[in-house]
Amino acid sequence: MIEPYASEQPVLLAPMAGYTDVVFRALCTSFGCDLTYTEMVSAKGLTFGNEKTVDYLSLGEEELFVGVQLFGHEPDRMADAAKTVSDRLGPRLRCIDLNMGCPAQKIVSNGDGSALMKTPALAGAIVEAVKKASPVPVTVKFRKGWDGDTCVPFAKVLEESGANAICLHPRTRVQQYEGKADRAAIGAVKAAVRIPVIGNGDITGGESAVSMIRETGCDGVMIGRGALGRPWIFAEVKAAFSGTPYTEPDVSERLAIALRHAERIEAVKGPHGLVELRKHLPRYLHGIRGAAALRTRLNGAKNAAEIREFLLDSLKNITI
Ligand SMILES: Cc1cc2nc3c(=O)[nH]c(=O)nc-3n(C[C@H](O)[C@H](O)[C@H](O)COP(=O)(O)O)c2cc1C
Repeated sequence: MIEPYASEQPVLLAPMAGYTDVVFRALCTSFGCDLTYTEMVSAKGLTFGNEKTVDYLSLGEEELFVGVQLFGHEPDRMADAAKTVSDRLGPRLRCIDLNMGCPAQKIVSNGDGSALMKTPALAGAIVEAVKKASPVPVTVKFRKGWDGDTCVPFAKVLEESGANAICLHPRTRVQQYEGKADRAAIGAVKAAVRIPVIGNGDITGGESAVSMIRETGCDGVMIGRGALGRPWIFAEVKAAFSGTPYTEPDVSERLAIALRHAERIEAVKGPHGLVELRKHLPRYLHGIRGAAALRTRLNGAKNAAEIREFLLDSLKNITI
């Protein structure tokens, strides 16, 4: 069992701001995802009691546990935020994950996210402080470096500071999301530390997850964009890991999953949920011929019942 993931070969949903809400997390869990994370939550916002920030800590009824990702750069504040999170979630909190990878300008300009890769001593102090405050394991998600490759020494600092596990997205901050994830960097980090290493970046299905493990020796995988509009990717990867056959959902099954997403988001968030759903729905239609007209209709849908009607109607006309 690899802790804190409670799995032999963890398959995780990556934190994604604006996407990994309670509804999407539950959907991914239903397909076998071992652990999901909140999107990054501001330590500052939490310690100031900002309502919108605190709301990120709301779990779904059926959500048994979650990892909460924090961002910030002040060790004491990060520790206070971790305490707030663990007091609020109790046994449903599986781990606190520290964001040391976000490349967004508004984040790094405050010294948060991937900016911490330029200040490894501070990064280590944050891990130490959060470890002292948190009753659950502390993990870190980071990048290959700021503008060059510094992930191995950085990973060693994280390990020495007490991180229980680490996850590497092997692109530099300067690269943002350009180019290919550099798997050799994951292999180098895995060889350099004793704590579990999760590989992340460009996993699109069972084959790429298996090759990520084979090429890098990493202990598990984390999937971000590959799960958008394809939450069943977790079932596919789990099947590939266990060597069992897997059949992708056909068009009608895919649309049924999209509808489940729509109904749940409406139930949990009301009409506003359907606005948020607009980011997800087109992704379910990806690769389906004749989906363009359906996309337009779905964007205009006023409720999940209309979405159901449009999806059922469209099944007569669309094919893969
Ligand atoms: C829309 C979007 C939002 C993201 N938000 C976060 C975030 O809140 N925290 C984080 O650590 N990474 C975030 N990421 C990065 C992903 O977790 C992941 O590291 C990256 O997308 C590479 O993995 P992938 O190729 O499987 O998508 C985000 C990525 C995307 C595309």
